[in-house]
Amino acid sequence: MNKTQTLYEKAKNIIPGGTQLLSKRPEMFAPEQWPAYFSKAKGCEVWDLDKKHYYDVAMHGIGACLLGYNDPDVSLAVQKCIASGSFSILNPPEEVELAEALCNIHPWAEQVRFARTGGEIMSIAVRIARATTKRSVVAVCGYHGWHDWYLAANLGEDDSLKGLLLPGLEPLGVPEELRGTTLAFMQYDREAFREIIDKHGDRLAAVVMEPCRHHDPDLGYLEFVRDKTHKAGALLIFDEITIGWRLTLGGAHLRFGVNPDMAVFAKSIGNGHPMAAVIGTKEAMSGAHGSFISSTYWTESVGPVAALATIKKMREVDVPGYCSQMGKKMQSAWRELGDKHALPIKVEDSYPALAHFAFGHKQAIELKTLYIQQMLKRGFLASTAIYLTLAHTNEIIDKYIVAIDEVFAEIACALKEDTIIESLEGPVAHVGFKRLIK
Ligand SMILES: Cc1ncc(COP(=O)(O)O)c(C=O)c1O
Repeated sequence: MNKTQTLYEKAKNIIPGGTQLLSKRPEMFAPEQWPAYFSKAKGCEVWDLDKKHYYDVAMHGIGACLLGYNDPDVSLAVQKCIASGSFSILNPPEEVELAEALCNIHPWAEQVRFARTGGEIMSIAVRIARATTKRSVVAVCGYHGWHDWYLAANLGEDDSLKGLLLPGLEPLGVPEELRGTTLAFMQYDREAFREIIDKHGDRLAAVVMEPCRHHDPDLGYLEFVRDKTHKAGALLIFDEITIGWRLTLGGAHLRFGVNPDMAVFAKSIGNGHPMAAVIGTKEAMSGAHGSFISSTYWTESVGPVAALATIKKMREVDVPGYCSQMGKKMQSAWRELGDKHALPIKVEDSYPALAHFAFGHKQAIELKTLYIQQMLKRGFLASTAIYLTLAHTNEIIDKYIVAIDEVFAEIACALKEDTIIESLEGPVAHVGFKRLIK
């Protein structure tokens, strides 16, 4: 085994779960083959511990670097900040500038609180909503992080988050007493939402949802949710952690003209440097004045400096337009090459910036693992999705498309000869959350 694989074997014993983020576990891609660690990253190029070079054409930093890794402008701003000291007994003035910038981009918002990670800032938003409304119940319809408030949805009689994102999210370690405090409904299911409002509206603090993820919402849906939420006396929180900045400068909700009471950003706002923000109306944020929401490292400078540099660059360059254009190219390539090799490739008409395809086959997960394995051999960190960034140049995407042609041909051959399993050089990828060590 090379250095990269050996280190991960060691990690699994000393770090429960192997990594700190499920989506960065090699098991989610091609177990025993996908490199767990990097030594260098630039643009969309990554080097592992054995100096092997890859192009990242997968979920690129799991959606955290819209400008590409180690963006020169963001890195320069961060380097200058570190050179003059990025932490002291006083606060970073940049956080005030950032608060103003976020309110300018989202004119409905009047106040801002900051943290450093997505799950953390979602918990803050929910805490503020509960404090403002003096109510406890929260309704959700997607993934919002790892905290107790969210996993409490799975304390219900059935695994209520199962249909929402990934299987296996046991509420182990979440207090039983939180049962009934978070209720799940399926996105776009107006009936299920109406039922929550009818049954629990008078105890509802907030409805937490992404304004969209892969498609525009059904016409009038966001207005329907907002109006029902407000009528019940609850607050509407849009989670823009992944979709924000990808479709437009700022939250995706700006496209639809439906304003929430609070919106939450993380991931790409710092382009690889930890930063997170919740913006809201004064009224919605009023609970934040009296609630104890405080943490030492929320006062360091790198996060706000990186966010300001990222937003500056996103004001200058049409990042959403570029990502959409490159995503369309990927969607066409998967479709055309799927047809060419008579493979059951399904490419949805979803937002190109988060382009993805699926193998419409009973061995879909084995085929996905084989695709990843064969791409690794060609120097691509690839999966069935690509989160486009400014660093995905035409040249790199063209190289990837040539590799897809070759790999689809190999998969077609393995399917024809019924040798999918034999072709795998490691275990099949995991689906959802699982223990790594019994
Ligand atoms: C919509 C959404 N909300 C919340 C989170 C949690 O963010 P983090 O992983 O930074 O805690 C994610 C992460 O994937 C997300 O996509």
